[in-house]
Amino acid sequence: GATGTTGTHGTGHAAGSAAAKAVTVDSLKGPKTGTPDRRFTLTAQEAKLKLASGRTVDAWTFNGQIPGPELRMKQGELVEITLVNKLKDTPVSTHWHGLDVPNGEDGVAGVTQDAVAPGGTYTYRFRVKERGSFWYHSHQSSSEQVQRGLFGPMIIDPAEPTRPVDQDVTVQAHSWDTDQGPTLALGTSDTLDRRTARPGQKMRLRLVNSDVLTRTFTLTGVPYKVTAIDGMDINEPGELTGRRLVVAGAGRLDVEFTMPNTPVRLAAEDAPNAGIAFSADGRGSVEPRFDGPEFDKTSYGKPTAQPFDANSRFDRTFDLTLDEWLGFYDGGFALRMTINGKVFPDAPMLMVKEGETIRVRFLNRGQEDHPMHLHGHHVLVLSKDGKPVTGSPIWQDTVLVRPGEAWEIAFKADNPGIWMDHCHNFTHAQLGMVMHLAYE
Ligand code: C2O
Ligand code: CU
Repeated sequence: GATGTTGTHGTGHAAGSAAAKAVTVDSLKGPKTGTPDRRFTLTAQEAKLKLASGRTVDAWTFNGQIPGPELRMKQGELVEITLVNKLKDTPVSTHWHGLDVPNGEDGVAGVTQDAVAPGGTYTYRFRVKERGSFWYHSHQSSSEQVQRGLFGPMIIDPAEPTRPVDQDVTVQAHSWDTDQGPTLALGTSDTLDRRTARPGQKMRLRLVNSDVLTRTFTLTGVPYKVTAIDGMDINEPGELTGRRLVVAGAGRLDVEFTMPNTPVRLAAEDAPNAGIAFSADGRGSVEPRFDGPEFDKTSYGKPTAQPFDANSRFDRTFDLTLDEWLGFYDGGFALRMTINGKVFPDAPMLMVKEGETIRVRFLNRGQEDHPMHLHGHHVLVLSKDGKPVTGSPIWQDTVLVRPGEAWEIAFKADNPGIWMDHCHNFTHAQLGMVMHLAYE
């Protein structure tokens, strides 16, 4: 393992080396041979780019664009992605957020690989198990690098088309630091983006939140269904109107609707004047509304059999309390983001054995949202505030735990290695809210 390097969240640490005795990352790679079905190259490079409003961004990009290129592939394919680093002084890596790849392909600098130095390259190879809406981002100094643009969408089509649509639109929401201050853009649109959609067309919007903060979207002018959360299909989604669609930092939501005769508007609460307006002639729009009830995923869709539920017995349970802490730390007065009162590397290490079923209970006692992201595994949401999920199973990679909330999740330990489990608010991660999951 590459435990000596400075990691994503600014730490060389001891946690990895203990576990590395049991598991070597090098033995946990994707297929080394075989002709890939898809090849991509991601070149990290600087670029000065303009958003739709004319505001400019001094960006760190993949392939000279923000967001980075959409990597489009099919479920089951063998993909090979070469990362080339042409940044001046900045080492990078690439993490496939939400994909359960072999540990050695996970792209976490300081844990599963060394960061790729300027002038260097690194090749990732893995077979894609999932399908749906995902994204990739640098996992080296993530707080700065993702903010500046080192990310992009990763869309995986099913091997056989299941619900074909006429327009499949990826909407990557990100707050950019521009020459005129911070601004939210959907893709590169930080003003209203007017598009044409013919009445009767089947539409899919893939909302991807690459910010560290929670974002609330609304879709005005049409009934719709939320068909996937974090890329995982919802079972029998019902029709909704006017909901506030809350998407965690790093989270995704797929929304589908049939285009009506009147305009439809996608908007984000923090930037009501931006967004996307769809209309028959490409000129219409409608005022966005933000006054509806919040979308409740825990009662949405229909239940269907899963490997475990809130009443199952689990091999291990971890109780994790998330909080803020202000006090003396490392010789100075500091704010820290804690797990069970500790910060990385003293935060709990989640030790598991392959084949075990694991339950994690998160409780947020602080004032801030914590989008908790476990690498390499999908987790099933069991309950919120003690109430079991009554709708569709919800499999997530990033579970939003808001102030006062208690979420119970579970997963199967089926992907050996050393995995990050951290708050995807990278500022919180830097302030200590980072753990590792390791296999005995
Ligand atoms: Cu999306 Cu550890 O990251
Ligand atoms: Cu957090």
